[in-house]
Amino acid sequence: MIGRLLSYVCQKVPSLLPRVSLMMKPQVVFVLGGPGAGKGTQCSKIVQEYAYTHLSAGDLLREEKAREGSECGQLIGSYIKEGKIVPVEITISLLQKAMEETMEKDEKMFRFLIDGFPRNENNLQGWNKVMDGNADVKFVLFFDCSTEDCIQRCLERGKNSERTDDNRESLEKRIQTYQQSTRPIIEQYEQHGKVRTVDASCNVDEVFASVKAIFDKEG
Ligand code: ADP
Ligand code: C5P
Ligand code: MG
Repeated sequence: MIGRLLSYVCQKVPSLLPRVSLMMKPQVVFVLGGPGAGKGTQCSKIVQEYAYTHLSAGDLLREEKAREGSECGQLIGSYIKEGKIVPVEITISLLQKAMEETMEKDEKMFRFLIDGFPRNENNLQGWNKVMDGNADVKFVLFFDCSTEDCIQRCLERGKNSERTDDNRESLEKRIQTYQQSTRPIIEQYEQHGKVRTVDASCNVDEVFASVKAIFDKEG
C-alpha cells in the first residue's frame, strides 16, 4: 500500500511544484515540543496576530484517517495509537496539498507554521528531498516542557478530546518516540543555530508573551 501511495505522490509532486514556484517561496517555521507541550494552543494564537497559516501534521493525519475512501486511513490510525511516526510520504503529501491550497487561495499567505513536523529522521529526509529549495525554513520554534507536564496536559485534554492517543498507554509510547526520535532532530537544528526555545511550563499567556518576542524580532 505504501508503494502505491509513493507512486501517487511521485506522480503528483512534479505537477505541483512548478505552480508553487510561480508564487512566493513558502516561509516555514517548524513547531516542535513534546506531546501536550502547547504547540497547537500557541499556533492558534500566533495566526491571530501574524500572517501565518497553521498546519498541524497530526491534525492533517487525523483528517486523512477519517476521510471516507482513504487508502491509508487504517495505517494512520494504528501508527497514531501506537505513538509511532507515519511514513513521511503520506505526511508530506498532506502538508504539500495544504500549503498549495492556501497559497492558491491567497498568494500573500506564504508563511506557514508546520506543527509537529519533522518528528524523526525519516520526516526530515522526506522534507529535504521534496521541499529543499522550494521552501525556506526560517527557524524551529521549540516548546520546552517537562515530561510530567506533557503527560498531565494530554490526560486532561483526553477527558474531552476524541483522540485515541491521549491515554496513559499511548502516551508512554509517544513520550518515548519524542525522546528517541524527535529530540535528536531538534538537536540537529540547534547545531545550526536554528532553534528558538520557549519555556512552555508557564500559563498560556505567559508562554505567548515569549512567543511574541520571537515573532516580533524574526517575523
Ligand atoms: P500540543 O499541540 O503540543 O499537543 P495542545 O496545544 O493541544 O498541545 O495542548 C495540550 C493541552 O494542554 C490542551 O488541553 C491545552 O488546553 C493545554 N495547554 C496548552 N498550553 C498550556 C499551558 N501553557 N498551561 C496549561 N495547559 C496548557
Ligand atoms: O502532533 P500530534 O500530537 O497531533 O500528533 C499525533 C500523532 O500523529 C503522533 O503521535 C504520530 O502518531 C502522528 N504524527 C506523525 N507524524 C508527524 C506528526 C504526527 O506520524 N509528523
Ligand atoms: Mg497538537
